[in-house]
Amino acid sequence: MRNILVINSSAAGDDAASRVLVRSVVEALKREAPGATVVERDVGRDPIPHLMGDALDGIRRDEPQTRGGWRTRELSDALIAELKAADVIVIGAPMYNFGVPTTLRAWFDHVLRAGVTFAYSEAGPRGLLEGKRTIVVESRGGEYSSGPARAFDFQEPYLRHLLGFMGIDDVTFVRAEKLGFGPEARAAAIAEAHAAIEAAVARMRAVPDSVAA
Ligand SMILES: Cc1cc2nc3c(=O)[nH]c(=O)nc-3n(C[C@H](O)[C@H](O)[C@H](O)COP(=O)(O)O)c2cc1C
Repeated sequence: MRNILVINSSAAGDDAASRVLVRSVVEALKREAPGATVVERDVGRDPIPHLMGDALDGIRRDEPQTRGGWRTRELSDALIAELKAADVIVIGAPMYNFGVPTTLRAWFDHVLRAGVTFAYSEAGPRGLLEGKRTIVVESRGGEYSSGPARAFDFQEPYLRHLLGFMGIDDVTFVRAEKLGFGPEARAAAIAEAHAAIEAAVARMRAVPDSVAA
């Protein structure tokens, strides 16, 4: 492990569950590989613009024709360069309205680029990013991994698909659920998620070269 890319997307502050847990993931990874570099992109605090008007020009295949298109292209290129350079990606993803924050969606809108991070072929779409391992921290007010709300989890399947579409299919999801069920439930969920993080990093250690300092 040489380069860790950290993406936070909570609109809340330092105490946001996903931020606390993402910090814990990074600390655990750094214990494994103290020399690894950490690049942080906080789209919750420093949002990426949504694609509107001229901006669309920048994510299409052709050369942009507008200033707005060029601005998008430059940002998209920079975000993709961060993604390509990373061998481990850590994403903090709160559940907002059963899905992901729009700021995180805007990040995906900039990094999913035909011919750059995925390609269409006769055999269907193919992801162009390979050899990356990802830990996604999902924070949720309710419970979706079991029970009646399970069918309304549009967060995890969506994230799995978006990442897989780019070829990132080694993804571990760490869920902190029932955060809105009172202080005890919240504390239990955070403790459980911390344990899941340790287990996820231990699994990475068990696979040769995945967490090499
Ligand atoms: C705009 C908004 C929408 C939310 N929608 C949902 C939801 O659909 N389901 C859910 O379980 N929790 C929902 N929540 C609660 C958050 O998932 C929960 O507060 C979580 O802790 C937020 O993550 P964070 O602490 O990392 O910011 C929502 C919170 C906000 C602010």
